[in-house]
Amino acid sequence: MLETEKLSKKYEHTAACTDICLSIKEGQVFGLLGPNGAGKSTLVKMIIGLVRPSSGKALIMGRAAGDIEVRYKTGYLPEMFRFYDWLNAWELLSFYARVYQIPADKEKLAIQEALELVGLKGREKGMIKTYSKGMQQRLGLARAILHQPALVLLDEPTSALDPLGRRDVRDVIKRLQQRGTTIFLNSHLLGEVEMTCSHLGFIKRGHLIDAGPIADFMTKEQEITVEVDNLNHDLFTRWNIEGRAVNMNDKLLQLKAVNREEVPVIINEIIGAGGRIYRVESRSRGLEEVFIDLIENDGAV
Ligand SMILES: Nc1ncnc2c1ncn2[C@@H]1O[C@H](COP(=O)(O)OP(=O)(O)OP(=O)(O)O)[C@@H](O)[C@H]1O
Ligand SMILES: [Mg+2]
Repeated sequence: MLETEKLSKKYEHTAACTDICLSIKEGQVFGLLGPNGAGKSTLVKMIIGLVRPSSGKALIMGRAAGDIEVRYKTGYLPEMFRFYDWLNAWELLSFYARVYQIPADKEKLAIQEALELVGLKGREKGMIKTYSKGMQQRLGLARAILHQPALVLLDEPTSALDPLGRRDVRDVIKRLQQRGTTIFLNSHLLGEVEMTCSHLGFIKRGHLIDAGPIADFMTKEQEITVEVDNLNHDLFTRWNIEGRAVNMNDKLLQLKAVNREEVPVIINEIIGAGGRIYRVESRSRGLEEVFIDLIENDGAV
């Protein structure tokens, strides 16, 4: 559905994106995570043809970014948007229905469906300038999906929303996914992404540092907490050298295992070296920890 080949954007003083290679298949919900200024919005803008790449290219359904055919099949919610706020929501969507060339006899149904999907039904006759930020964001989402695009790119779709609004957007994304829509989502709301996305990418200072199915990030590493007495000091030192981010505090040992199978091995080592164990907990690391680790500790860029 979407491929980028060494996509790069250099502004005068900043390399906003460097050699980004991505492949997103039909039906995936891809979440791009990265700190402020990492290059997320620039990447999306290059993909849809709003920003000209310095080098490399983006292909949607095999066609170049910006191709007119592709535009009819793509929906986009920008990070920052302003609408003609003297219109009401219905009028605005009606305008975009014509832009997207939705046939006149299908327009009403398309607008009704979009309003319903984003939870603005019944509010469509209010002037946009009287809308709250959250309502405007919902309207932006309605505009992005009005023409039932095959690919939707959402640049921080929940940034102005309250927790209920966020849940609604998650539901919208789920319903779009059930329709077979491919979704590209920029966010730094890790909880959202964890609940919504099938695939993840991590971007830092313009470099894509990792990407893959969400399960690869969620289940790989285990955080182990052991209540232990008489822990062997050499063992502790060795784990430190191995980079397990070991921490020992008041008989509570915390360390990382590469995968679940390593947990009993570590426990055996502690006992073998004379340690007395009172309690063991092991859990998958949350996305927040994975994110912080990848972004803060990745020495490559
Ligand atoms: N038009 C521009 N001219 C010059 N520099 C720009 C321009 N647009 C973006 N940049 C720079 O490119 C880098 C990436 O910006 P971008 O907006 O893509 O980041 P982002 O990951 O979307 O950040 P945020 O999470 O804050 O939205 C930043 O250093 C930014 O200052
Ligand atoms: Mg951005």
